[in-house]
Amino acid sequence: MDKITLTATTRFGLEGIVKNELSILGYKKLSVSDGKIDIEATFDDVPRLNLWLRCAERIFLKFGEFQVSSFDELFENTKALPWEHVIPQNGKFAVVGTSVKSKLQSVRSCQSIIKKAVVDRLKDKYDTESLPEAGPEYTIHFALVKDTVTLAIDTSGTGLHKRGYRKVGGEAPLKETLAAGLVLLSSWGKGKKYELLVDPMCGSGTIPIEAAMIARNIAPGLKRGFAAEKWPVIKDSAWKEARLHAYDVINFEQIQQISGYDIDGTSIQTCKTNAAIAGVENNILFEQKDIKDLWIDRQFGTVITNPPYGKRMSEMRDLNELYRTINSIFKKKDGWSIFILTADSMFPKYFKRSRPDRVRKLYNGTIKVNYYQYLALKKPPAEK
Ligand SMILES: C[S@@+](CC[C@H](N)C(=O)[O-])C[C@H]1O[C@@H](n2cnc3c(N)ncnc32)[C@H](O)[C@@H]1O
Repeated sequence: MDKITLTATTRFGLEGIVKNELSILGYKKLSVSDGKIDIEATFDDVPRLNLWLRCAERIFLKFGEFQVSSFDELFENTKALPWEHVIPQNGKFAVVGTSVKSKLQSVRSCQSIIKKAVVDRLKDKYDTESLPEAGPEYTIHFALVKDTVTLAIDTSGTGLHKRGYRKVGGEAPLKETLAAGLVLLSSWGKGKKYELLVDPMCGSGTIPIEAAMIARNIAPGLKRGFAAEKWPVIKDSAWKEARLHAYDVINFEQIQQISGYDIDGTSIQTCKTNAAIAGVENNILFEQKDIKDLWIDRQFGTVITNPPYGKRMSEMRDLNELYRTINSIFKKKDGWSIFILTADSMFPKYFKRSRPDRVRKLYNGTIKVNYYQYLALKKPPAEK
């Protein structure tokens, strides 16, 4: 089983950016569909992908895909797959999954049938009456859509948004994978030029921290473990080499070009704690500040932020006030690019500098949001 297919799952709207991340890592044979990308790979790629993909949610080992219309078919086709190539005799495994628009609707029945099929297969192959299930852990996922089932094993464990630096959250923090996506979708850092980046409503600091990790080339998974680290099928040396390489390529230049502000002092303390754990505290200036008091004296820069979402009328009034403030600060700053993530479609009515160059539809959890992108009208002079 040298050649394998790995599947990187993504949030809707971020497939292109994950594809781009994969291309930069050197992966060419990619197949993109809604919310996922299949990658032609080997087991040695599992550490690298888990360590480096900033915007993927999880990396799965794709194991099989077939049509099913009965539980018997599900059992036989599952049992026919070479599970023993990955799961050792003492492997401990669980089955989780979903069923959408399919004849086999009961998720619980599918779970127990798949489990039984894998147990039977492993007992046959290991020539044993019982499996101790006391060793490394495997979570088998099934996704049944319109009578086609995909079986895959999760190599990541905890979702990849958990980088290990967020010990404390704030009010409505963005998932780290989405925050990284906002930075990579923006024009900031293109051509490795990291001009000033400001998040004036930074909450727990996710956008500035992810941006600093990108600028410093810090692998997002460096501070955490992964489910597949205990799998015998992946050599320990592959994990060690991937981690050592990730440490080797960190950029230690201390560029301080990122600022995060928030009206709330507790949030700013959280930002500082989280940034220190992420190892980027020297790259970001965090300060308690109301956006009304933000003074921009540079000609060029980028704003990436997600303002609060208003639900009640009184909050909407405050929000409109906030949009007016953003407009008055930046309407004449034509060297600034502005990127705003909000569920509120009224934002462009308040930001009068120009129409958005692009509006991307994304999801923040289950909330549909728009990413409004206003590119700078003036560019900084080229460096000599
Ligand atoms: C949706 S949250 C941002 C979450 C953040 N992106 C994160 O990942 O943690 C919006 C933030 O705007 C802040 N805020 C609200 N009004 C503000 C104002 N007038 N000036 C600065 N920050 C403000 C809130 O304190 C809150 O932390």
